[in-house]
Amino acid sequence: MKRWLMFSGVLMMIVALLAAAVLGIPGVMAPRTRDDSPPTKYLIGMSQANLIEPWRVTMNRELEHAAAEHFDLRVIFTDAAGDTERQISDVAMLMGYDIDLLIISPNDSEALRPVLSEIYREIPVIVLDRNVSGDDYTLFIGPNNDMIGYLSGLRVGRMLGEEGGSVVEILGTEDSPPVAARSEGFARAIADFPNVTIQKQLVADWLQDRAEDRFKEYLIVSDRPPDVVFAQNDAMAYGAWIAAQKYRVYGTRFVGVDGLEGDGGGVDLVRRGILEATFYCPTGSQQAIDYALKILSGDVPGVRQLILDPVEITN
Ligand code: AHR
Repeated sequence: MKRWLMFSGVLMMIVALLAAAVLGIPGVMAPRTRDDSPPTKYLIGMSQANLIEPWRVTMNRELEHAAAEHFDLRVIFTDAAGDTERQISDVAMLMGYDIDLLIISPNDSEALRPVLSEIYREIPVIVLDRNVSGDDYTLFIGPNNDMIGYLSGLRVGRMLGEEGGSVVEILGTEDSPPVAARSEGFARAIADFPNVTIQKQLVADWLQDRAEDRFKEYLIVSDRPPDVVFAQNDAMAYGAWIAAQKYRVYGTRFVGVDGLEGDGGGVDLVRRGILEATFYCPTGSQQAIDYALKILSGDVPGVRQLILDPVEITN
């Protein structure tokens, strides 16, 4: 008898579950709904250099947000994790999805140029942030790096005034075009402040922890801490500030770049008095989606480069 009761109990449970699956009784099993999302009209591939840097995380988030405004647009994202060979395979994979347009923020523009030239023969290509040489792309959208550097130099020069002082400049990488442009703009501006000198240039790969390590190493060997640290992004400026705090170096002032929202972003760091200034560095994501849709609807842009100006942020 007992065996029969168990069997019938199991049988009833199976029947109940099947009924729920078919009738969609809430709480038991979500009803299988017909996929009523509209058909995808445009499929875009977005190849990102890395998602280690907060500014690139913001770039992707802004791309998602901009794309979500268009019900018939889908974007497939890839992350090369800072590896150029991986980005080349990412792009090949995206082409395999038969995308209609490629948006790419290159890890190494020159290394990717031959690949982009091939792709550009088949579909439109929008390059974000780090430009590629030559003409094999539809549109380049990037920050005005020279102006970022120049305005940062003006800010630092005015902070130090007639008396002047010493500056440590923290660069994103050894020799990328954005880094060179920012550094040249910075040097051009502080040249107008004869008593302001660049004591040292450090390289921290755009990363907060690396900037903390580099600045600690510098503080150990330098005779005196700098009056100002200018870092080419807020993450590195914050890392240098943390190093100064840990080594009880007070009085150094910090300036960064990016001006991202959110905890630990440049806007927050300025509000907390950790940075004296930062410069909003537009990602270009909204413009990339807007132009991508124009291009895909046959409206080829009259420009090939869209350079976005920074905005100074202070308390
Ligand atoms: O090229 C733009 C720079 O790249 C951003 O300022 C920085 O945060 C990012 O890594």
